[in-house]
Amino acid sequence: MVYRETHEQQGSMAVFYVLILIIQALGLTTVILVAVWTGSYRGGFAWQSDPVHEFNYHPLFMVIGMIYLYSDAILVYRVFPNVKKAYLKAMHGVLHALVLILTGLGLKTVFDSHDLRPKPITNMYSLHSWIGLLTVILFGLQWLSGLISFVAPQLSMRVRQTYMPHHVFWGLAILCLAAASSVTGITVKAFYTDLFSQFKYSSFGTETFIINFLGVTITSLVALVVYVVSRPEYKRPSFPDAEYIRLTP
Ligand code: HEM
Ligand code: HEM
Repeated sequence: MVYRETHEQQGSMAVFYVLILIIQALGLTTVILVAVWTGSYRGGFAWQSDPVHEFNYHPLFMVIGMIYLYSDAILVYRVFPNVKKAYLKAMHGVLHALVLILTGLGLKTVFDSHDLRPKPITNMYSLHSWIGLLTVILFGLQWLSGLISFVAPQLSMRVRQTYMPHHVFWGLAILCLAAASSVTGITVKAFYTDLFSQFKYSSFGTETFIINFLGVTITSLVALVVYVVSRPEYKRPSFPDAEYIRLTP
């Protein structure tokens, strides 16, 4: 019986590590695809003196931050089960702080790219911009409440325990919203480019494939992260009273 259980656990952890490898491969592919698209096919990067190319930082920063680093920040608790909880908390918090910085920069560049043109473009009119802003506001609130709940020493264990399932749910929900923001953003950009440049999205050229693969890798990555985090068998093992120990340093 004991042997059977150990064997099953080993099998389950082997699947877990394969999933983590796939997630990392998808994450890196996503970053490479968005960098190649914006850097090579959309004319590269510039700062405020060239708002058209400043825009290219927007998808780059959003995808690196809100998709790739966000996913890795969530997974630290699962991938390093033997590391001290306090270090994991720090890693989780710092990675999410990096996401916050990249998101702020990503927003600045897209607003600049509208406002600093000789003929400014209206802000916040598209469905993408509304979903995007909602995602950013929720992310900011989640970051603040995570910091206050798990770092402030005054809070009782009971409050932390009550908040934890909400923290996990909203952490995953906001990641899904980030995927929705990215996919709508990619679609908006693809159609604008089709209308206003030489490139025809409908022509099935290399850029069409890069754009579509980018959307597919983002959605697959996020689906897999949600799957891994929602599986109880992949939680930090060897702690009998998981609920209690997971909330302590
Ligand atoms: C989590 C990811 C993302 C968030 C939170 C987000 C958020 C936003 C916001 C708030 C705006 C409004 C800015 C304004 O009106 O001046 C915007 C605009 C824009 N974004 Fe994103 N974005 C994300 C990803 C992307 C991606 C991956 C692309 C792909 C190219 C993209 C393309 C655009 C475009 C073309 C605009 C200007 C047109 C419009 O307002 O729809 N976004 N984004
Ligand atoms: C927007 C920022 C944040 C998001 C999206 C987020 C998301 C998540 C998610 C999805 C989990 C579940 C991970 C798992 O079950 O394996 C989690 C766990 C946790 N988070 Fe956050 N988090 C954020 C910020 C923070 C901050 C700033 C702290 C404080 C340093 C924090 C502390 C924790 C702790 C202590 C856990 C418990 C991990 C465990 O024992 O399984 N989070 N977070």
